[in-house]
Amino acid sequence: MIIRADTSLYGVFGNPISHSLSPLMLNRAFAETGVNSVYLAFGVDDIGAAISGVRALGIKGVSITIPHKTTVLEFLDKIDETARKIGAVNTVVNRKGLLIGYNTDSSGAVRALKEKTALKGSDVVIIGAGGAARAIGYGIVAEGGRITILNRTIAKGERLAKDLGANFKPLAEIKNLDGRILINTTSVGMTPRVDAMPIKSDLIEKEILVMDIVYNPLKTRLLKTAEDAGCRIIDGVSMFVYQGAFQFELWTGKKAPVEAMKKTVLAAL
Ligand code: ATR
Repeated sequence: MIIRADTSLYGVFGNPISHSLSPLMLNRAFAETGVNSVYLAFGVDDIGAAISGVRALGIKGVSITIPHKTTVLEFLDKIDETARKIGAVNTVVNRKGLLIGYNTDSSGAVRALKEKTALKGSDVVIIGAGGAARAIGYGIVAEGGRITILNRTIAKGERLAKDLGANFKPLAEIKNLDGRILINTTSVGMTPRVDAMPIKSDLIEKEILVMDIVYNPLKTRLLKTAEDAGCRIIDGVSMFVYQGAFQFELWTGKKAPVEAMKKTVLAAL
C-alpha cells in the first residue's frame, strides 16, 4: 500500500500497548481488502486528550483497551445501546466528526460461541467478574442464554450477577458445574504462569464446551484439560479476531477478511 495524503488513520489507545496484536491484524485487514488506511498503536495515559486528538486530526476510528474502556464513555458523542448497558466501549467510530462508541468484545465473543453451539436456552458458567466477563455476559443474555457467575471475590461476583440477572457462586465452593458451556474470563493460565487453572480439572466433564479468553498461550492448561476430557474447545484467538473483525466492519462497511486476520495473529503468537 502507498501512503498518500488521503490515507485514513486508525489506531488503538491503551497502556501498556507495546504487545498489542491489533496493529498487525487490522493492517492485514486493510491490505487484504485494498482499503487505503493505516492502524497504529498509541500508548495513552490521558484518554480525554487522546479523544480530542481524534477530533482534531480526523482519525477515522480507534480501538480502546485497558485501562480506558470505561473512562472513555464521557468523551464520546453517542454510545451504542449495547455498549451503554455493558458500561464499556472498545471501539470508537468517527462518523463525520460525531464520535460513536461500540462494544465488539461482546459481539465477538458471541460469534465465537455461536460458531460451535446455540446460546438460546443454554446454561453458561462464566469464571470471573471483570470487564471481560461483563461484556461476554451481556452478549450471552441478549442471545437468551442463562448464566452462572463464579468469582473469587464474592461482592464483585454478586454485583455482576445481579446486573446480568444471573446466578452467583463463590469460585472456591464449586462442587460441580451447572452448565454445558464454560468460559474463563480471568487471566489465570496466562504466560508466564501457564500451569495455573481457574477451576479444578475434575470439574470438567465430557461434552462441555470450554472457551478461554486467554490467547497466550494459545492452548491454556484449561483448554488442554478440556480437550483431554473429550470436550470441544474455543481458544482466545477466536474472540480476539472476531472483535477486531466487527471493528473493521464498523469502520469500513466492508466484510472483514477473517481468515487472513486470524492467520496473521496465529503467526505472531
Ligand atoms: P478484565 O477487565 O480484563 O476482565 P479485571 O476487571 O481485573 O479484568 O477482572 C479480572 C477477573 O479475573 C476478576 O474476576 C478476578 O477475580 P476477583 O474479582 O476476585 O479479583 C479474576 N481473577 C484474576 N486473577 C485471579 C486468580 N488468580 N484466581 C481467581 N480469579 C482471578
